[in-house]
Amino acid sequence: MREEEFSVTPWEVKGKVDYDRLIKEFGTDKIEEGLLTEIKKYTHDLHPLLKRKIFFSHRDLDWILAEYSKGVKFYLYTGRGPSGDVHLGHLVPWIFTKWLQDKFDVELWFQLTDDEKYLFEKKLGIRDAKKFARSNALDIIALGFDPEKTHIFSDIQLSGLLYPQALKVAKRVNFSTTKAIFGFNEQSNIGQIFFTSMQAVPAFLPSALAEKNIPCLIPHAIDQDPHFRLARDVLPKLGYLKPAAIHCKFFPGLKEGGKMSASKREDAIFTTDSKADVKKKISNAFTGGATSIKEQRTKGGNPDKCSIFQYYCYLFEWDDEKLQTIRNECKGGSLLCGECKKRLIERVEKFLEDHQRKREEAKDLLDKYLVEHSKKIFELYDK
Ligand code: TRP
Repeated sequence: MREEEFSVTPWEVKGKVDYDRLIKEFGTDKIEEGLLTEIKKYTHDLHPLLKRKIFFSHRDLDWILAEYSKGVKFYLYTGRGPSGDVHLGHLVPWIFTKWLQDKFDVELWFQLTDDEKYLFEKKLGIRDAKKFARSNALDIIALGFDPEKTHIFSDIQLSGLLYPQALKVAKRVNFSTTKAIFGFNEQSNIGQIFFTSMQAVPAFLPSALAEKNIPCLIPHAIDQDPHFRLARDVLPKLGYLKPAAIHCKFFPGLKEGGKMSASKREDAIFTTDSKADVKKKISNAFTGGATSIKEQRTKGGNPDKCSIFQYYCYLFEWDDEKLQTIRNECKGGSLLCGECKKRLIERVEKFLEDHQRKREEAKDLLDKYLVEHSKKIFELYDK
């Protein structure tokens, strides 16, 4: 693959992603300054992930805000494919989703697609997928979503409620469309071809249950856009609104290039990693440093190519001035990679200590967040 080539699908990201080109190819809209000002009217401040253009693209976010200003509340929908442990990259859109929930005081539906992961991951059994769904839910709860307003569910567990809704979508999508959007072929298993209709369901389920249209905003990494492009096409045919979306970039791995991948254990920091793991992984990470200390002192490092610097940007330095200082000191040659890594190790360790404690506490909270039976959902809408 040449440097300028890349590919982004919901199941695989390859090459160095050109996000501006992706906006054009997918047909989404860039988040411009005017829209940021609009968001700020309601949130009063801007999350660093917005300021840093890590959330960089959207569909119909301006419409969601216009409705909100008229007193029409939206709900949030996001999800996770539980194929293994959660790593720090997964937390980025979720942390942002929590910020949105806090600022707009809205409901959140959180889909765990254990069905998807069973269908798409060769080695994963149904039991494994269900087990990961439950353990990943602990990571989600640990982030502190509002228990009264957050509904986490597994597709398999809640299938009795979701399946008839998914059928409505499936009936309106033909084989050639899924082939064109997702690249399926004659060898794809038939569950994969059906799956996107399950991912479409939470984009209208609350409207179906409430028997009135409620706008939906989906924060997600840009690779999931094909699913929602399809959902936006089909939902109006069912009498529902098109879901809006806000998209983020991929969290970089610790090695050169590409997004953080759960398949390479060494390339990512998992929420369940020990201090020793963190230290080892960060110490071995790819940086933008020069080949020798002497050279770095004189010529400086390159933060834009550095995985450690990206960690500060995405999660570990929310203060813009302090981030700028790191950048300047790196470029000026006064901050060397060893020291910069050491500081990051301390932050990640502290973050994980805190997260792991909350994750333990979440075990007692599962019942509050998890929607496991249709009955519980109907109760929600009988209030
Ligand atoms: N398919 C997603 C994944 O593999 C999981 C998912 C389901 C999702 N619904 C979503 C992600 C909504 C973002 C928004 O990770």
